[in-house]
Amino acid sequence: MNILLTGGAGFIGSHTLVELYKAGHTAVVVDNLSNSSPESISRVGAILAEEPTVGHPVEIPFFPVDIRDRAALEEVFSRYSFDACIHFAGLKAVGESVEKPWEYYENNIGGTLILVDVMRRHGCKNIIFSSSATVYGDPAEIPITEQCPKGQCTNPYGWTKSMLEQILSDLREADPEWHVVLLRYFNPVGAHPSGRIGENPNGIPNNLMPYITQVAVGKRAELGVFGNDYPTTDGTGVRDYIHVVDLASGHVAALQCFQPDFHSADGQPFVYNLGTGHGYSVLDMVKTFERVNGVPIPYSIKPRRAGDIATCYSNPAKAERELGWKAQYDVADMVRDSWCWQRKNPDGYQR
Ligand code: NAD
Ligand code: WQD
Repeated sequence: MNILLTGGAGFIGSHTLVELYKAGHTAVVVDNLSNSSPESISRVGAILAEEPTVGHPVEIPFFPVDIRDRAALEEVFSRYSFDACIHFAGLKAVGESVEKPWEYYENNIGGTLILVDVMRRHGCKNIIFSSSATVYGDPAEIPITEQCPKGQCTNPYGWTKSMLEQILSDLREADPEWHVVLLRYFNPVGAHPSGRIGENPNGIPNNLMPYITQVAVGKRAELGVFGNDYPTTDGTGVRDYIHVVDLASGHVAALQCFQPDFHSADGQPFVYNLGTGHGYSVLDMVKTFERVNGVPIPYSIKPRRAGDIATCYSNPAKAERELGWKAQYDVADMVRDSWCWQRKNPDGYQR
């Protein structure tokens, strides 16, 4: 298939490019580079040259386009014919979304409305949307299945995901030609095992794993652990960390939802949790990082972070049953590959 990747220069998008080409698909990237570098796409080309299933350098078409720019998107659609879109583009910093709610709603929701309008005008009605476990709010059940009701989000970022799920589902309801796949990611970490592409956060990382790797590389003095009085094994928050390469291959697997004979057994629209089904605490991650990489991570306990929940992990059985997809990498792989990327690229894509 020929796929449009919005936000394809970013963390998850760049890893998905690798898996798409390895599986024999082709892709075109649009990204406004607000949180990424075009260097990621060049590096994907270099990774593919060494992949046995590809074996030659690949020049991936890239357009520095903002999805809110209708005319620029139209131009891309008039040059290529797409079988589907994998829609990663969006702002994703939870704290920033509280400071700048309008910017988050305008970029994430406004951008998606323009994207889907241009798509349908060009007869492309297959979309995979990057959703998040955040739509479950404080989950009603653990492990979380797709049947678990959506909850109250604690920040505008989360609401953009929840609302976009609703908007895309309504679109599909009104027009059966639309095929909408909602992938709810748990906590993506890790990097391509080559260490060539990885997560490249701007400024102080919000998320646990990039913070740990920046402590390891000497950019930050210590990790603050946000709370040790949660009702979990060691009192720190428990999450379902998933290797970004597994997450990427989940998108390739989800493309089968667009085949005419594909049916979802539970009758739900195509909603899938992408997680491992295992929960690890903050201190589990710190200790695993230290053990696997042999690098100490100094930390101190800080107050709880507003909006955090105690425990969040998936039941990923539906994706295995229906898509034949299951996470392959464990936490040792995740901390090894996160560190490999950070060590080789202490300043991310800025060399
Ligand atoms: P990322 O910031 O690395 O990638 C997003 C990309 O979208 C960036 O390259 C950015 O420049 C681009 N972008 C943003 N607004 C745009 C616009 N208006 N037009 C064009 N490009 C735009 O983030 P990521 O971690 O790769 O996340 C990808 C998607 O997955 C996002 O939608 C995010 O909300 C979602 N998600 C991420 C996580 C996570 O923890 N990383 C978890 C759940 C869901
Ligand atoms: C993980 C655990 C923290 C940083 C967020 C978004 C979610 C999704 C994934 C996009 C928690 C603790 C963290 C630190 C810490 N993103 N922590 N010190 O909060 O589960 O999910 O990213 O959709 O929507 O909310 O991930 O990596 O921020 O935190 O102790 O410096 O690590 O309290 O228990 P989270 P995270």
